[in-house]
Amino acid sequence: MAGRYTLSMIKPRAVREGHAGEILSIVTKQGGFRIVAMRMLRLSREQAMKFYEVHKDKPFYNDLVEFMSSGPIVAYVLEKENAVQAFRSFIGATDPSKAEQGTIRSLFGKSIQENCVHGSDSDENAKREIQFFFASHELFDAQGNIIEL
Ligand code: CMP
Repeated sequence: MAGRYTLSMIKPRAVREGHAGEILSIVTKQGGFRIVAMRMLRLSREQAMKFYEVHKDKPFYNDLVEFMSSGPIVAYVLEKENAVQAFRSFIGATDPSKAEQGTIRSLFGKSIQENCVHGSDSDENAKREIQFFFASHELFDAQGNIIEL
C-alpha cells in the first residue's frame, strides 16, 4: 500500500458543529482525495487510548483521549499519490493558529487538541490506523472492487 492511502478522522467537535459534510467536500473536491472507506462512530475511552497509544507518555494524552471519546467521529480512508504527506500538507499544521490560511485546520480547528481532523503521520501508522477501523473487505477502489492493503 506504500504511499497510496491515509487514515483521517473528523473529530467530535467538528462533527457536533455540523462541519463533517463540508470537510469531506473540501477534501475530495479541492484536495483531489478519493474516499476508499468511511464510518461514523463513537470511540470508547479504551479505543481512543489504543488509537493514540503512541502518545501515551505525552502530557496531553489523557485530555486527548477524553476529547476523542466525547462524541461521534467520522473515520475515513483516503487514496491519492503520496497520500500521507499530501493530506498532512493539505489540512495544515497541527496547531490551527499556525496552519496556513484556507487549510481545513485553519478554517474549522479550535485548538491544538480540537484541531478538527486527524491525518496519519507515516505509511506505517496509516496501515495500523486503517486496520484499527476497517476490515479488509471494507476498502474499495474506484471500480468498487475490494482493495488489498
Ligand atoms: P492528531 O493529528 O489527531 O494527532 C495527535 C493529536 O494530539 C493531535 O492531532 C492533537 O489533537 C493532539 N496534540 C498534539 N500536540 C498537542 C499539544 N501540544 N497539546 C494538546 N494536544 C496535542
